[in-house]
Amino acid sequence: MSHLVAPSILSCDFAFVARDIEMVNSSEADWLHVDVMDGMYVPNISFGIPVVKAMKRHSKIPLDVHLMIVQPENYLKKFRDAGADVITIHLEACTHLHAAVMEIRSMGAMAGVAINPHTSISALEEILPDIHVVCLMGVNPGFGGQEFIESSIDKCKKLRQMIDEKHLKALIEIDGGVKLDNAQKILDAGADVLVSGSGVFHHGNPVETINQLKSLTRNKAS
Ligand code: DX5
Ligand code: ZN
Repeated sequence: MSHLVAPSILSCDFAFVARDIEMVNSSEADWLHVDVMDGMYVPNISFGIPVVKAMKRHSKIPLDVHLMIVQPENYLKKFRDAGADVITIHLEACTHLHAAVMEIRSMGAMAGVAINPHTSISALEEILPDIHVVCLMGVNPGFGGQEFIESSIDKCKKLRQMIDEKHLKALIEIDGGVKLDNAQKILDAGADVLVSGSGVFHHGNPVETINQLKSLTRNKAS
């Protein structure tokens, strides 16, 4: 399977969200990455359920909703009803992660689990067979435009190995600090989904950037 590209709408111009989603629609992007932040789990507030619902009206591609909120289990149905196709929750934010993953699956959405840079991939071992996406944070969550944490490359390689050895299907998504200049290295480490916010929207030609990210070829993990 070719890798997927998921522009992060957090870096769009919020005065022109519909226009920026149309731009994404006209590109080869696979998913629209939607960052929900509550000012509690992360030190930033982005937007909530009504905004996700409005974005859904414009997007022609699936919404990949990344919940950076405390007690995400209380909001799963609301985000599903708002149109989330992938719902990703943080391992660190969820006391009963397995139950939450099962609920996401039972609603017919893809279930994702995100881990922060300090969280070991070994913490994923038991949940891995049940999830569709592992979101490895390449930055500390909360803000777009941060620099990629290089140790995420090794972490990605180890996770790739873990998934392949167990013959599992979970996709590895890398989120934070992904740009055209490091995307190849990230793909070669075994990533399946590239999330890119500032690398796309703060670029002279966002459509071309998305298409360039999509046209990279994945070499085998080293
Ligand atoms: C960070 C968010 C990311 C962010 C990525 O907390 O989860 O999805 O939008 O933005 P860039 O690509 O600018 O690091
Ligand atoms: Zn995100």
